[in-house]
Amino acid sequence: MVDAPSGISGILGDLSKYSFRLDRIILTHGHFDHVLGIAEALKVFPAAELMIHPGDLEELGDKLISKAKQLSDGMKFKAAGSIELSVIHTPGHTPGCCCFLMNTGSGGFLFTGDTVFHGTCGRTDLDGGSNTAMFASLQKIKQLPPETVLLTGHQYSRKFSGTLAEEIASNDAMKASSLDSLEQLP
Ligand SMILES: [Fe+2]
Repeated sequence: MVDAPSGISGILGDLSKYSFRLDRIILTHGHFDHVLGIAEALKVFPAAELMIHPGDLEELGDKLISKAKQLSDGMKFKAAGSIELSVIHTPGHTPGCCCFLMNTGSGGFLFTGDTVFHGTCGRTDLDGGSNTAMFASLQKIKQLPPETVLLTGHQYSRKFSGTLAEEIASNDAMKASSLDSLEQLP
């Protein structure tokens, strides 16, 4: 499971109903709207591993901090069957933001959390945010295969999904060629 917001009881119920097991909850970052469902998920699947980058660990609160394991850049998991998922540390929105690349063999999917949205990037004006780190993270994401499909943490535009190539062509934050130009965006 990538992120565990509130309101996931239906998903958890379906996993149980169809005899799936939740092995791992991996967090794109520690903001409340991505973590409020963790306790409920762990109640249904107590053996599930909880993973977050150390940069955001303190966001979890004492109870969950002791259970959490650390994500690091370049870490790889078997996601399901032969599908592999790799961790890309992309600070900027928060210090511990990560994106997860799911390699399906033909292209791939990138869970971007709050680092990239369709048409923009995550805000950097909250605690721990950094324009410098965000600019570097966006350059890192731009190196991925252009056919990679982006799955964003929120949907602020009418578009549901699109490729990295489309995003690089249309997203002002992705198009910014310098830190200065990123900082000048509204
Ligand atoms: Fe966030």
